[in-house]
Amino acid sequence: MIGEILSLVKQHEEWRGQECLNLIPSENVMSPQARALLSSDLTHRYTSSYKFYMGTRFIDEITAYGEKLARGIFNAEIADLRPLSGHIADLLFFANFTKPRDTVICVSATDGGYPGMWKNALPRFLKYKTVAFPFSKDRMNIKTQEAIELIHRVKPKAIIFGASLFLFPHPVKEVAKAAHETDAHVGYDGSHVMGLIAGKAFQDPLREGADALFGSTHKSFFGPQGGIFLADKEHGEKIKKYLFPAYVDNAHWNRIAALTLVLAEMKEFGERYARQVIKNAQALARALCDYGFPVVCRDLGFTLSHQVFLDYGGYKRGRAIAEKLEKANIVTDCGVRLGTCEVTRRGMKEREMEQIATLMKRLLVDKDKPSNVKNEAVRLAKEFQRVVYSFE
Ligand SMILES: Cc1ncc(COP(=O)(O)O)c(C=O)c1O
Repeated sequence: MIGEILSLVKQHEEWRGQECLNLIPSENVMSPQARALLSSDLTHRYTSSYKFYMGTRFIDEITAYGEKLARGIFNAEIADLRPLSGHIADLLFFANFTKPRDTVICVSATDGGYPGMWKNALPRFLKYKTVAFPFSKDRMNIKTQEAIELIHRVKPKAIIFGASLFLFPHPVKEVAKAAHETDAHVGYDGSHVMGLIAGKAFQDPLREGADALFGSTHKSFFGPQGGIFLADKEHGEKIKKYLFPAYVDNAHWNRIAALTLVLAEMKEFGERYARQVIKNAQALARALCDYGFPVVCRDLGFTLSHQVFLDYGGYKRGRAIAEKLEKANIVTDCGVRLGTCEVTRRGMKEREMEQIATLMKRLLVDKDKPSNVKNEAVRLAKEFQRVVYSFE
């Protein structure tokens, strides 16, 4: 039994860790140093805000250190590392700043918004009503003037920027101003772009008018799977007051130790990393477009984030494409969204993006055998096994 379990993990490690070109935009890799902290003694421990458990003196210091780093990197008055995931960070925002029957404006799931905050997900049990931001599919962005008019008309309790398919910075400045005029709370779900925001390469939501910035710590932010909440004093203090024990009990201190180390890496290397992630996304998009792939937003330079969007008109065709790519060890989602965070963290640059595009073309346009393309994909992946932008 034990041999089987260990063997499955080993096979996964070899396949996804060493032999695949991982292009899922929700994923990344941690440095060996940060990853090692996940199996430290902290993984066994408890602490609670009431100081119920003894033995927590170093955990408390690590947490304070991490929060200080996070406040500095994001220039936030309050930081909290305890949300267990991006989704829990969303839940914290909605549960604390809306009530049943309130209206919330966000990007609809059909426009690339996060399905977890839309219709049948969080609103189903928090009972808030969702209204979609007016959205331009041509520009893959919120329509600023129409959004301002909508806010004045429906007077939402909260508006929330951010999306799962996220190519361009949202018009936070203009739209948040209108929301504040109607006393709405302004949130920004930065799950996808947290690493780009930390690296000062995308937008600065807290300066542009968001009251709170929150989300995952493992997509473009290269940390452990988990969440983070950053906010002004008013919103942050409320979150700190109610987070425990309603939304999170034990916060997984091994994760928080790893996240603290990753925050130090971000402080040191984040700007270079984030710039390269975006340059790589643009290079990949350009090369794919030249090969005839359906890359959106050509006129806008394709992307200003870590994502490239291939519009195959829905999941059915997207799944067929993603399945073919997987056979050649090129791993994507069925969106089809491609993300350059992980390959960038492995040290790849524009040249390698062109090679990846060529492999995709050989497979999907020239109909070369998957096994031939796979051999090349494995060779390229194996060349980039180090994790860069780290203290190693
Ligand atoms: C915009 C957005 N918010 C939140 C989440 C949920 O993140 P997590 O998986 O960390 O719970 C996702 C997931 O992909 C997302 O795309």
